[in-house]
Amino acid sequence: MRYLYLSLLQRAIEYMKSKVDFLVIGSGLAGLQFALKASEKGKVLIVTKASIDEGNTKYAQGGIAAVISDKDSFQKHIEDTLISGDGLCDREVVEMVVREAPEKIRELISLGVDFDKNKKGELDLSREGGHSEKRILHHKDVTGENIEETLAGRVKENNNIEVWEHAFAIDLITQHHLGRLVKRWHTDIACYGAYVLNLKTREVITVLSKVTVVATGGVGNLYQTTTNPPVATGDGIAMVYRAKGIIENMEFIQFHPTALYHPGERPSFLITEALRGFGAVLRTTDGKKFMHKYDERGCLAPRDIVARAIDNEMKVRGDDFVYLDCTHLNPDELISRFPNIHRKCLSIGIDMRKDMIPVIPAAHYLCGGIRVDKNSRSSIKRLYAIGEVSSTGLHGANRLASNSLLEAVVFADHAAMDAMADINSYSWQEDVPEWDYEGTSHPEEMILVTQSYKEMQMIMSNYVGIVRSNLRLQRAITRLEIIYRETEELYKKSVLSRKLCELRNLINVGYLVIKMAQARHESRGLHYNIDYPEKNDKL
Ligand code: FAD
Ligand code: SIN
Repeated sequence: MRYLYLSLLQRAIEYMKSKVDFLVIGSGLAGLQFALKASEKGKVLIVTKASIDEGNTKYAQGGIAAVISDKDSFQKHIEDTLISGDGLCDREVVEMVVREAPEKIRELISLGVDFDKNKKGELDLSREGGHSEKRILHHKDVTGENIEETLAGRVKENNNIEVWEHAFAIDLITQHHLGRLVKRWHTDIACYGAYVLNLKTREVITVLSKVTVVATGGVGNLYQTTTNPPVATGDGIAMVYRAKGIIENMEFIQFHPTALYHPGERPSFLITEALRGFGAVLRTTDGKKFMHKYDERGCLAPRDIVARAIDNEMKVRGDDFVYLDCTHLNPDELISRFPNIHRKCLSIGIDMRKDMIPVIPAAHYLCGGIRVDKNSRSSIKRLYAIGEVSSTGLHGANRLASNSLLEAVVFADHAAMDAMADINSYSWQEDVPEWDYEGTSHPEEMILVTQSYKEMQMIMSNYVGIVRSNLRLQRAITRLEIIYRETEELYKKSVLSRKLCELRNLINVGYLVIKMAQARHESRGLHYNIDYPEKNDKL
């Protein structure tokens, strides 16, 4: 009897413990690309907190940058990236990514990604802000959807990859190994998997892995207005921060200059920069052009400059938005190239062929994140970070448009190659404790979570937005600390839910953004502080 009881218990425990070679957290371009490569060498488990396709990737409109045309050159793409990054890019990384781009495009095409062609049958290239040449490959204005669907399709037909949808990674399983040799900036910590909450049953499963990959995307939901879907809550960054991994450059939050002004809609619908590359022009509400006052590149200046210019015009004039004007463009070409935007605008009574589109800046992209090397290794052993969650050195203080899909695919490949080379030398860490449910018996008070979520977004939007000051940042940290303490208290005693975990993660991430913004005593790229309006090259 005792034996039967023990073996049943053992089976129950085994059920709650899964073992895989590669654990991938997140199913955007970065996670899917890694999984497809790594599946050649072992079993891959992808855990993703919503449906497989939900994430920033699906919403990408403009496209992916690569040097394809004879008129273009690697040198120009490298220079454009460095200029946009405002002195903080890692030149070696930029060169590596730009030079590998054409090959990655060929691989995506061979997987089935469908980039548009022009009348001559050549790949059709668009232009976006900060690019000196046309070099953006796209699928109409729904490039991300095409990429996500194609790769997710490949993953589903791959027998070596298992996908758990609605599975939320709560925390990494890490252990410190005192006395071991520490290589370069790698710490003495190793990762052995993650605790994953099944959002349907509310059980927490211990997933043991030989290699773990964080591919959890961005942090847009820190702000009241964002182009990012609800899943973009910085979970990966918060998990790695709690595990004592290195996080950097969090002050560089990119606001996209042109999200559709449609109050009450969340996320904000993006109006792609490729539309400005196509000839659309920004105007104030009285119809006047203004970008020439801010930069000689006008509407195609890098994003930080355009977003700040719009913010300034709105504040000075007391307007709620500016206009993007396409009415002078060829109407047939316009709707053929941007059918998705046309459909969306029509749905709210705007015909972009005749009406100007009201737009505002919205939180869009995180340039910093989990610090990684050229193979996407984080500072924690056996832990990789890829895609938007990582800080690779490519973007510096301001990402060049359409360089992030490229970064995701290049670094996912590097990470996969590196991890596959080492996988046979790793084994699972067996003595990992199960998730401790103690204390988490109270039903969560949803209203408290929702309220704190809104407060956090208000703090970040009001005090840590496009224009910052020492006073605003100090006010932000004081206010955020109160919500931090309340949320930690709630977290300890409540049954876990996605919303509560996301709130906790966002507070961690907001804290990092503010602290790193406070530490940067200059204005550079996306970080603009009125108390230090100049760049400081001595920093
Ligand atoms: P994502 O695609 O965001 O995927 C993250 C995944 O992680 C999701 O599956 C999510 O559910 C999952 N996840 C998160 N937390 C957890 C957790 N705790 N547990 C389990 N799963 C989790 N870039 C370009 O280069 N060109 C463009 O044209 C372009 N347009 C854009 C348009 C929009 C509207 C937006 C929002 C972004 C755009 N970007 C563009 C940026 C680009 O899309 C993203 O940076 C890129 O797709 C990020 O890919 P990713 O795989 O890192 O993350
Ligand atoms: C856009 O299409 O404007 C977004 C491109 C990007 O974020 O790189």
